[in-house]
Amino acid sequence: MQHEPNPQNVLETYQYLTGIVTPRPIAWVTTISVSGAVNLAPFSFFNAFGANPPVVVFSPTLNRSGGKKDTLRNIEATGEFVVHSSVAKLADKVNLTSKELPPDDSEIELARLHTVPSLKVKPPRLQEAPTAMECKVLQIIPLGTGGISANLVIGEVVMFHISDDVLDPSGKVDPHKLQTVARLGQDFWCHTNDLFEMARP
Ligand SMILES: Cc1cc2nc3c(=O)[nH]c(=O)nc-3n(C[C@H](O)[C@H](O)[C@H](O)COP(=O)(O)O)c2cc1C
Repeated sequence: MQHEPNPQNVLETYQYLTGIVTPRPIAWVTTISVSGAVNLAPFSFFNAFGANPPVVVFSPTLNRSGGKKDTLRNIEATGEFVVHSSVAKLADKVNLTSKELPPDDSEIELARLHTVPSLKVKPPRLQEAPTAMECKVLQIIPLGTGGISANLVIGEVVMFHISDDVLDPSGKVDPHKLQTVARLGQDFWCHTNDLFEMARP
């Protein structure tokens, strides 16, 4: 079959795109509003794009009616965010924090999570997450004005926090210990415990 995207079939396009581009890592993002409300939400339109400086990009899309999500509003206002790893033991909480709450209601309380202050940015980081990357915004690029259109949030990582529990003896992040989860199409997720090694040519 073929599918030609157009403004009338955005939902189908979204379903094909997220079914094909898999698995997607999940950024679990804390932000803070101007009035100090801390927000937490997951985003699987996410990846890393370079290490010098370290750059991550994620996309809080416009919601289906074309409005901005709290995460995007907060980042536009403050220019800062923190990305945490989404790991198997916290997968239920990652999912729960995708619930659309009013701006002043806390996803952190809802998921019974805790925060600790960050070192270089205002949004706090999650105590329970094994990794956190404190980020400052380099650029925000909106691509479209309708429902589910992208907003590329490009951030520079200014501080890494990595729990010793997920390091191997040489000090590198051990995927067997970190156990990230990722998003596939529909409501499917996957674990990362079916690993194989291949040396670079
Ligand atoms: C695993 C997962 C991945 C998600 N990925 C995205 C994404 O990449 N972009 C997006 O806009 N929403 C994504 N969502 C939905 C948001 O998490 C949801 O809209 C959330 O309420 C946004 O929160 P906010 O309004 O507090 O920013 C995802 C949800 C889940 C469960």
